[in-house]
Amino acid sequence: MSTTTHRPAGTALLDLPGQTHVADGPLDLNGMYLAHYAFRRDLASFAAAAEGTPPDETEVWRALAVRWERFSYVLHHHHTTEDDVLWPQLLELVDAEGDAQGRATLEAMEAEHDLIDPLLAACAQGFAAMAGHPDEQTRRRLAGTARQACDVLGEHLRHEETGALPIVQRSLPAEGWERVERAAGSGNSLRRTFFLVPWVADGLDRGQLDTAFASVGNGFRVLLALARPRYARETAVAFRHA
Ligand SMILES: [Fe+2]
Repeated sequence: MSTTTHRPAGTALLDLPGQTHVADGPLDLNGMYLAHYAFRRDLASFAAAAEGTPPDETEVWRALAVRWERFSYVLHHHHTTEDDVLWPQLLELVDAEGDAQGRATLEAMEAEHDLIDPLLAACAQGFAAMAGHPDEQTRRRLAGTARQACDVLGEHLRHEETGALPIVQRSLPAEGWERVERAAGSGNSLRRTFFLVPWVADGLDRGQLDTAFASVGNGFRVLLALARPRYARETAVAFRHA
């Protein structure tokens, strides 16, 4: 999903639950804030589900393994886009400005992505194991790993929102942000999009949704209406004990 680059007149930047900063400036960062909100929301639910789902709830563990695959695909795509398209552009800009602090922040972004990856891999393994051969010891280990992933990702998102996104607003020209948005929105099959749209909208109130649609395009309203019932059913099963 991608947003228009410049904010349409009167469109606010989102300040969603859990978000630590709104980086004011000329660019429309709402796609980024929507993704961060959904990552926080889902990881908290995964951690609670791993803690609270009894091992013999086979249907729930299978739904959790499917949900984890979908969630982690989106998160991986998000981080890859930042690593390949966003940070390299910003590094060039801060170097040209002689901004050593900016360089340190951006290098930390890449390093934090590398810290998160093994935790995500361990969660994927744990949810797959619980869907196939559930046992209490695996569940307990998974609950610890999922909680840790939640904390580490939360700290990374805080750092990105307070440290890196202000650099985006300050330094990145509109064409640079367009490249990021194009990369972020590319490569999604129809099946992925049918998950992505209700997943992003999950938990937003009417006003937040209106702002989101102003950024990503009102065409997504139809898709949301179509995709939401199935998403809601699957989410209710996966997070039954969250
Ligand atoms: Fe991000």
